[in-house]
Amino acid sequence: MSKNTLIAPSVLAADFANLQRDIEMINNSEADWFHIDIMDGVFVPNISFGMPVLGAIAKHAKKTIDVHLMIVDPDRYISTFKKLGADILTVHYEACPHLHRTLQAIKAEGMQAGVALNPHTNVSLLEDIIKDIDLVCIMSVNPGFGGQSFIENTYKKIKQLKELITRNNASTKIEIDGGVTDKNAKKLVDAGADVLVAGSYVFSAENPTATIADLKKITQ
Ligand code: DX5
Ligand code: ZN
Repeated sequence: MSKNTLIAPSVLAADFANLQRDIEMINNSEADWFHIDIMDGVFVPNISFGMPVLGAIAKHAKKTIDVHLMIVDPDRYISTFKKLGADILTVHYEACPHLHRTLQAIKAEGMQAGVALNPHTNVSLLEDIIKDIDLVCIMSVNPGFGGQSFIENTYKKIKQLKELITRNNASTKIEIDGGVTDKNAKKLVDAGADVLVAGSYVFSAENPTATIADLKKITQ
């Protein structure tokens, strides 16, 4: 049976001097979502791009916009990201002392609510909130940079999370972010992943469109 695993190219790895070209490439590919990484230089030791760039991307993007906030105190910007075009807004577990409130605020704006977990954060911490989460993003690298190598412990976390979701009768999707390639994609899906983010693997390829199609094919 086909699984319809979703592929979400990470725009962080695009050529920023040719952003419109790369956005059109994703529009015309088999990709399902745009994955957009927002960093503040505080929660993670890097700064990616901010609101005006996201607004410009959203003007051309014709698919779901999946925004991954790697920022402290994300509550300050929830309505701003809605206005900029986000369909899914993911905050970090480690950045949200009042996670339940944050998720309700995201949903009140009409977006799907996601929670990202750093590699050291145990999935069992989501036991009491899983029903309120549309998407869990398991970080398979330390957040902040593209092009890092995949952390093998991720498979175990996916299986634990899948079990937690099933046991709670939740409909949460599992997204994997960092170091995804054709080498680990199938194994990630077999462990329970629903969405694969891929940055450098797609954009450093000679033919990104064909690379997206390959990822799509091997994960169905
Ligand atoms: C890392 C970002 C990722 C990144 C993935 O902090 O959250 O989305 O763009 O890049 P690759 O696929 O190159 O590991
Ligand atoms: Zn990301």
